[in-house]
Amino acid sequence: MTERSLDQACAPTAFTAPDFAEVSAAADALDAGSLLDSRDHPAGRAATALALYRSTEVPTEDIVAAATRLAERRSPRLHTFSPLYTTNHCDSDCKMCGMRRSNTGMVRRFSGKREIEEQLRILLEHEGVRGVGFLTGEYDEPYTRLANAFRIGWAIERAFQLGFDRVYYNIGSMTDEEIAVLGEWITPEQPVTMCVFQETYNRTTYDRFMGGAGAPKADYDRRLSSFDRWLDAGFRHVNPGALIGLHDVESEIVALVAHAEHLDRRGAVVDVSVPRLRPALASSNKTKVDDDSYVRLIACVALACPDNRIVLTNREDRAFRARVLDLCGVISPGSPDVAPYRRSDAIANEENSSQFLVAELSRPSVILADITSTGRSIASFDEPVVAR
Ligand code: SAH
Ligand code: TRP
Ligand code: SF4
Repeated sequence: MTERSLDQACAPTAFTAPDFAEVSAAADALDAGSLLDSRDHPAGRAATALALYRSTEVPTEDIVAAATRLAERRSPRLHTFSPLYTTNHCDSDCKMCGMRRSNTGMVRRFSGKREIEEQLRILLEHEGVRGVGFLTGEYDEPYTRLANAFRIGWAIERAFQLGFDRVYYNIGSMTDEEIAVLGEWITPEQPVTMCVFQETYNRTTYDRFMGGAGAPKADYDRRLSSFDRWLDAGFRHVNPGALIGLHDVESEIVALVAHAEHLDRRGAVVDVSVPRLRPALASSNKTKVDDDSYVRLIACVALACPDNRIVLTNREDRAFRARVLDLCGVISPGSPDVAPYRRSDAIANEENSSQFLVAELSRPSVILADITSTGRSIASFDEPVVAR
């Protein structure tokens, strides 16, 4: 993307989701077929994405082809990071998540300095990956939240010292004070991406899944405004997302694309996540968006937001990933278990200590080498030479 200054005056600081009925009417006034070849969307990116998603005339393969052509212009074509869950303790109670505090079957774990450093070394030396994403639950008490921000700040600094060149963190909403405590460990120039998926932009559905007395994540507005605080503090990389399966797909596309557009206009580097629900310990997670609709959703978001990288994980299996890989800008393989990487063994994804179960539990290096073997290159990955 082109360089733009963060204090560019054309966007208001705080994001508010657009009215669905208005975007819907704007989308219906568009000629969907004409949207495939244009990069600028006068009716707004959200209306473009929705018009294409709804269109009965434009087949999914045409949207995929057009979005792939746009994605091919980005450099690097793909980059990678692997998630590192540093604990599965959590004070929130999200219904779809194995880590929720009321899940008494969860065996709680916490990684200290030695274990975090060892996991980072395994990712570097054994998987050949130089991108990492740190994860935790979301906590209630101000002291615990600040201590968590401090601890993840330490882990981020340590990752760069050890040789990582790209870091994400996914630890829930962030207040100004928490951003200040984490931010002291880094500089604004470093590629550190704040990930705070809204999960659903619909307040009623949000309450149903993320609500619950005293759950820190129940605060919809604190969550939604986290990126704007991060940008206000001078940082640049953000990753919004919607968890597909919680709410009606059309309205999530509109809100998520509008959110990405808002952040983009503020000069941020924006990655977009649209993870699909997976099974988790003692959660039903039955609402499944079918494969064809999900491919179409990804293609429409990719087409409407060509400067933003979509993140693809091994929540999806190899065959499905092949259908959408060329629409995505980030491939992120790993496991949502605590400290799951091993030098000699398969990686871990135990139901009683993981956030959820992935579709394909291959080592990151295997998933990534499978992609580079087709001639695609992946930044922040060098296939390890060690025998597996
Ligand atoms: N505790 C942090 C980190 C979340 S983990 C927070 O809540 O913000 C990253 C993402 O995994 C979540 O934001 C959610 O989008 C996704 N997730 C949660 N439960 C899931 C499940 N059962 N299947 C697939 N993805 C899930
Ligand atoms: N949930 C985070 C995300 O989607 C962490 C993550 C990244 C992840 N890659 C993954 C979880 C692969 C499981 C498998 O960004
Ligand atoms: Fe906790 Fe995040 Fe799971 Fe919610 S999604 S229960 S905040 S780990």
